[in-house]
Amino acid sequence: MTQRFSTRRVLAAMIAGAAALALTACGGSGGGGGDTAPAATGTQAAGDILVGVAMPTETSERWIADGKAVKEGLEKLGYKVDLQYAGDDIPTQTQQVDAMITSGADLLIIAAIDGTALKSQLEAAAGKGIKVIAYDRLIRDSANVDFYTTFDNFAVGVAQAKALLFGMGVTDKDGKAAGEKGPLNIELFAGSLDDNNATFFFNGAMSILQPFLDDGTLVVKSGQTKIDQAATLRWLQETAQRRMEDLLTSTYSDGSKLAGVLSPYDGISRGIITALQGVGMGPTIAEGLPVVTGQDAEIASVKLIQDGVQQSTIFKDTRLLAAQAVIAAQAFLEGGTPEANDTKTYDNGVKVVPSYLLPVVTVFKDNIKKELVDSGYWKQSQIDAGVA
Ligand code: GAL
Repeated sequence: MTQRFSTRRVLAAMIAGAAALALTACGGSGGGGGDTAPAATGTQAAGDILVGVAMPTETSERWIADGKAVKEGLEKLGYKVDLQYAGDDIPTQTQQVDAMITSGADLLIIAAIDGTALKSQLEAAAGKGIKVIAYDRLIRDSANVDFYTTFDNFAVGVAQAKALLFGMGVTDKDGKAAGEKGPLNIELFAGSLDDNNATFFFNGAMSILQPFLDDGTLVVKSGQTKIDQAATLRWLQETAQRRMEDLLTSTYSDGSKLAGVLSPYDGISRGIITALQGVGMGPTIAEGLPVVTGQDAEIASVKLIQDGVQQSTIFKDTRLLAAQAVIAAQAFLEGGTPEANDTKTYDNGVKVVPSYLLPVVTVFKDNIKKELVDSGYWKQSQIDAGVA
């Protein structure tokens, strides 16, 4: 399964993207029209093409970075871009997509808030021949989703569970038994159920954790093992903090030890950590704070990892995702079809959406520098400050 996501392949895709950008830059050097208009795309000049980009929220810095990178990539190709954020409000996002369609967008790139809420918008888009690319989150229940660029979401959950086992001493980093036999108490958190990714993350994690629950190494002491019990609407930090506080009161006030918490996203992780520290645990892992996982390499969480508070995060390089979305957009706008590397996994309820999946990397304290600083994703000074 991991073979298809080899670094070589990703690099090849990036090089192809860079080549496309370079070619277009040459073609577009004449600027304002006439014979030297920017790269011709299908029957339209690139400068006449408008791409609508709908992002969920600006409260998480990853979506700000995603939006910026997608916009810049498209503009380098000469396209006009209408980038909108919806403040995590479903009606706002549907209105934004409606407006993009009526104002003449030629293609839409959408990171949906609720993956099932855009059906009629996408029907209207299809009626006008507007291609739709689902960005990071699959859009469900619609035949009118043409492509999906994302990360290997099941692999994210697998990596989170492996990090949790490693952090609690059950396995080593390679998944081999490391001596700790339990029973260890853990709790499970999941993301927002209207986001298709939440189920992939949770199922990926449970595929690794279930055998350890079955043989008694791990125990979910609250008994809340189902995704709908573990879910966090809109991925909100405060909601996660409240649930963790409730779990501590209901299940751990007798002094039972909590060894780890599966968390699917850094914002949720920070809510969990606040709740744990609030009852006097930690403040660091070395001082007894339970192991808490994460996702997105958000700057506040990277600082917590550096400080020995949060154990890990899953780094999804949004620069690569944005580049893939731009490559796919260009392919459609030039009348072609983007290259998929997965045509089986993402059934949206109506059809299997051809997808391009990117690999993910687990970041612990000891590889922050290699993965995040040396790659230019964050500066060491930003990590030290915990602010982007
Ligand atoms: C998911 C996404 C995660 C995280 C989460 C909360 O859809 O895949 O990386 O960002 O939303 O924003």
